[in-house]
Amino acid sequence: MAFQILISDPLSEDGIYPLRQAEGFNIVMETKWTPEQLGEQIGEFDALLVRSQTQVTRAIIEKAENLKIIGRAGVGVDNIDLEAATERGIIVVNAPDGNTNSAAEHTMAMLMSMARKIPQAFHALRNKTWDRKSYVGVELKNKTLGVVGLGRIGAEVAARAKGQRMNVIAYDPFLTAEKAEKLGIDFGTVEEVLKAADFITVHTPLLKETRHLINEAAFSIMKDGVQIVNCARGGIIDENALYHAIKSKKVAGAALDVFEQEPMVDFRLLDLPEVVATPHLGASTIEAQESVAVDVSKDVISFLTSGTVRNS
Ligand code: NAD
Ligand code: MLT
Repeated sequence: MAFQILISDPLSEDGIYPLRQAEGFNIVMETKWTPEQLGEQIGEFDALLVRSQTQVTRAIIEKAENLKIIGRAGVGVDNIDLEAATERGIIVVNAPDGNTNSAAEHTMAMLMSMARKIPQAFHALRNKTWDRKSYVGVELKNKTLGVVGLGRIGAEVAARAKGQRMNVIAYDPFLTAEKAEKLGIDFGTVEEVLKAADFITVHTPLLKETRHLINEAAFSIMKDGVQIVNCARGGIIDENALYHAIKSKKVAGAALDVFEQEPMVDFRLLDLPEVVATPHLGASTIEAQESVAVDVSKDVISFLTSGTVRNS
């Protein structure tokens, strides 16, 4: 009998080619099911493949009688209840490096768009307003970029920022002096990084410890006029605190790809002219989407046929 595979978020067709090619796998792609429909249907499936949209909650997992593996076509697994999965012996795999480059490039694009107010100027121009006064930006050269979370993406961003002639200072609990030296960057405590930076970019996972890591207290120790980027996860920055920090002019710019609630429901931040935003597009390139889908497809095939995976 064929293994039943459910894909509940849009994944790259080229990326899932290994699964389509493999014998003994029946693929169902249903990206519009409500959580209730997913709960009703999940019992039939051996594997579930998701991106970030599907919330794989305890309630879903408890109904997943046949589920053996959940594949996350991306990095963050904060949309999957790992504890519930572990309790039921369901393995969770992600694609830890398939979208690193795309996320780092998007971060740099957001940093530069924010510093030079490109989206705001384009918006004005689209409305037939030729305004050269309102969109004066600042240079990155010789400014300090604070990187909070120097993992795969943070390190790629740091290297690119060095290329922009920025000084880089990073905080990561696992950062060693050797790694910082190799990258040619400084390192310090989170407070030291927040105090020193002209620009800040966060690249941690969303964990209990990182939820609202950037909160009112954190904003209060930053330089006046700091600019901040979040291309990691909504919730690392306290959006309410950010709103007030921008209103009070403490923060001069924010570039946001991710939000506390997605799809977004609270549009207050977007009413502020200091904010540039994208709807969680950090990994949305042809290359990254193909790469992450290939990685998890191969893991699903390997696990269901031989009980082994590349990462877990
Ligand atoms: P990674 O695991 O390589 O790096 C994360 C780093 O954060 C690690 O080095 C870890 O030590 C560090 N960290 C953990 N807790 C910390 C804390 N309290 N303070 C500072 N650093 C801390 O992961 P990555 O591939 O670099 O991705 C980082 C995050 O970016 C992912 O978890 C995901 O949520 C997000 N992401 C978003 C997009 C997007 O589309 N916007 C794309 C890819 C990844
Ligand atoms: C990730 O964690 O990899 C990102 O959220 C990318 C995504 O799946 O959109």
